[in-house]
Amino acid sequence: MEILKTPEEMRAWRRALPVSLGLTPTMGYLHEGHLSLVRRSLAENEASVASIFVNPTQFGPNEDFDRYPRDEEGDLRQLRELGVDAVYLPSVETMYPEGYQTYVTVEGLSQGLEGRSRPVHFRGVATVVTKLLIAVGPDRAYFGKKDAQQLRVIRRLARDLDLPTEIVGCDTVREEGGLAMSSRNAYLSREQRAAALVLSRALAEAEARFAEGVRSAEVLRVIVSGTVGAEPQGELDYVSVADSETLAEIEGDIEGVALLSLAARFGPVRLIDNVTLGEGA
Ligand code: PAF
Repeated sequence: MEILKTPEEMRAWRRALPVSLGLTPTMGYLHEGHLSLVRRSLAENEASVASIFVNPTQFGPNEDFDRYPRDEEGDLRQLRELGVDAVYLPSVETMYPEGYQTYVTVEGLSQGLEGRSRPVHFRGVATVVTKLLIAVGPDRAYFGKKDAQQLRVIRRLARDLDLPTEIVGCDTVREEGGLAMSSRNAYLSREQRAAALVLSRALAEAEARFAEGVRSAEVLRVIVSGTVGAEPQGELDYVSVADSETLAEIEGDIEGVALLSLAARFGPVRLIDNVTLGEGA
């Protein structure tokens, strides 16, 4: 497994390997959710690269960049075991050298939901993903559906900038009990982890009501906020029922496909989760 540390090294490796290539971008501290993306990349491409880069520009000033969990050695071991061909492992100085001043902004899609609580987040994600796609030159890139808004922002930027990479969304991997896998789950105490199961439970309740015929977006929002609100350790940030493509909040009945998403804090940890309602998930 090659370890490539600069865009020049990455590009030279890619040029020498003219086969179909999959990329799984990560911030490391790999869990089963990441590994499922890597496995899909390995299955669908002749070669696969994973990138590990904790991207400072997608963290706000009061967020957890400094204490974001890191385990480079463990990550490289897992990627080697899976059979990844190369890991792109740039430093912060390589990605954002002195004088750096170019950012990618996806305007409408970045503004609601996560964008409201994390105003610089998607500018940082869009910028780093664009840089990764340019450096690696993959045919396909793999992202989790847990980060539903991120996936839509990345699809939009790939389309708008004519990037020749197919953006592949992969199903959320859940722990036993339903908690969506996330590197930040590592910060949860045992009690907080147990309390956080309320998120997937609340989403499942709303899904069940939708399956029974409930179409009012407001009724579904109330079901989810009631269930999460009843958990004393959880502090709900938002519940949204939005058009699955545009992420515009739905005020009346759901007619097409909707994204039901939420964010909540458990102690210091902010978690997100979502389900798709209707066809075409
Ligand atoms: O989802 C993540 O881990 C990150 O946001 C990503 C896509 C690797 C960009 O830093």
